[in-house]
Amino acid sequence: MTVEKILLEFDAELKNLLPVLKKINAEFGYVGEEEAQKVADYFSLPLSKVYETASFYDLINTKRQPPLMIQVCSGANCAVKSAYKIISEIENQLHIKAGDDFNPNVKLEIISCLGQCGRGPIMIINKKIFTQVTPSSAREFLHNYM
Ligand code: FES
Repeated sequence: MTVEKILLEFDAELKNLLPVLKKINAEFGYVGEEEAQKVADYFSLPLSKVYETASFYDLINTKRQPPLMIQVCSGANCAVKSAYKIISEIENQLHIKAGDDFNPNVKLEIISCLGQCGRGPIMIINKKIFTQVTPSSAREFLHNYM
């Protein structure tokens, strides 16, 4: 699948911009500058509009993702249920800081509410969702990816 083939599945109407970006993200794991430019050209939009739309949604990546991508929800409900203790546990265990891009092999991202508040705290490792996570279960889940 190429970006061009994905674009041809959709009419160049603004309502299709987000579905196109989601599909490119699902296919390639991110919407980089080259992909965004092709989308901008297809929809006759400024590149900034494509980036603005892509970066508004947490589940669309605008950068190539490392092999181990960890995301923890910090929405109000997850935060009340110790999401920040989980984030600290991961930072300490992997010697990284949330949001840093320094390690090419692993990244920890803090994301906003996923709409699954009753099942929180929510942690996502390489797109697999874990629910009712605790600091100790986060440690166990990470072991399976290392
Ligand atoms: S606050 Fe985490 S899923 Fe809603």
